[in-house]
Amino acid sequence: MSAQVTLMPQPYVWSEPPLGDARSAPPRFYTDPEIFKAEVEHIHLKTWFFAGRVDEIAKPGDYRAIESVGGPVLLVRGEDGILRAFANVCRHRASILLEGCGNAKNIICPYHAWNYRLDGALAGAPGMREVPKFEKPPNGLIPIRLETWEGAIFLNYDDGAPDLASHLGNLPDLLGSHRFGDMVKTWGIEIEVACNWKLLLENAMETYHTGIVHAATVGAQRSVSFPTAGEWLSIQVQSSRSIAVLGEEPPFPPIEGLDEQARKGTYFTLVEPTTQFACAQDCIWWLAVRPVSVDRSVLSVGGCFPRPCTEYPDFDVRAAPYYKRWEAVALEDVGILEKQQRGLSSALARPGPLSWRDDMVLAMNRWVMARLPPETVDRIHE
Ligand code: FES
Ligand SMILES: [Fe+2]
Repeated sequence: MSAQVTLMPQPYVWSEPPLGDARSAPPRFYTDPEIFKAEVEHIHLKTWFFAGRVDEIAKPGDYRAIESVGGPVLLVRGEDGILRAFANVCRHRASILLEGCGNAKNIICPYHAWNYRLDGALAGAPGMREVPKFEKPPNGLIPIRLETWEGAIFLNYDDGAPDLASHLGNLPDLLGSHRFGDMVKTWGIEIEVACNWKLLLENAMETYHTGIVHAATVGAQRSVSFPTAGEWLSIQVQSSRSIAVLGEEPPFPPIEGLDEQARKGTYFTLVEPTTQFACAQDCIWWLAVRPVSVDRSVLSVGGCFPRPCTEYPDFDVRAAPYYKRWEAVALEDVGILEKQQRGLSSALARPGPLSWRDDMVLAMNRWVMARLPPETVDRIHE
């Protein structure tokens, strides 16, 4: 479903309060455990979050155990080819079932060996035949809602939430020509960060800091913003060559069929609340943030290339400088965000005046606050 908004770039997206009156959010928005608790309950457990790529779990029996804000999750492809997500928690006494990734015929609990089929049904429970009233069907793995867009897996703990397509709104209009679905994930890292989850995303959506924080890598950038329809935001860093890699000539050709706007730079898109897709002319990478506590987060960074590029005999050599750049820039951001978190913890920290280049920061703050109960918003502004 594509809403009626023309995706025309603008210098910045700003409505009210007037530029000059807008302030950064109160420090306790980033430091108060009660506010974090409300965010988990009202936002993270009710909206779509990115959980990886379908090409990472391609064959029947392939699985990946991941952590999420709602606990351990098992992604597994069934014998029927269907990809499913379950709480990675045994129905007997709650042991974790599988760890890491691999291929399995069935899922066996390491504690008392209850075993489950790949579709989650309980197949065997040693010794339970003697237990009156015990039945297998109600004791299958607990499913978690899973939907995909162009090979990207999203999960949602809320069965009543609007579907993924409604959440993404007109995002496919902007990113469609990158053909994310024809890409392969070739690289990824996870970084533990001592900062609130929102700081990572705010940072990922502004180019005000890049000339300073990234002076040694990507350097200063200019960006335009897009008004969007749906639960997402986007800027585009203008550059005729890919900024996914440093140096003059990118090692990979542009993605075939990129539309005119996409050829002008790299989209940095936030799918609210925790997922960024960065879409350059030759590849896509993501930043996905998992909130852990009010001042701890895990940042996952992953990179994808069009399948034909991954078949080059020297693919690994060509791709290595992208991986190096993604990691280096992420670590530069992590360094400054941990400083920001420490500053926000000061008893003397105050909301500060926003630049016009902080337009997405304001938009993101508002998105979060609009989904919190009034008492939590009052607490933020106390
Ligand atoms: S906890 Fe899994 S079988 Fe007991
Ligand atoms: Fe940055």
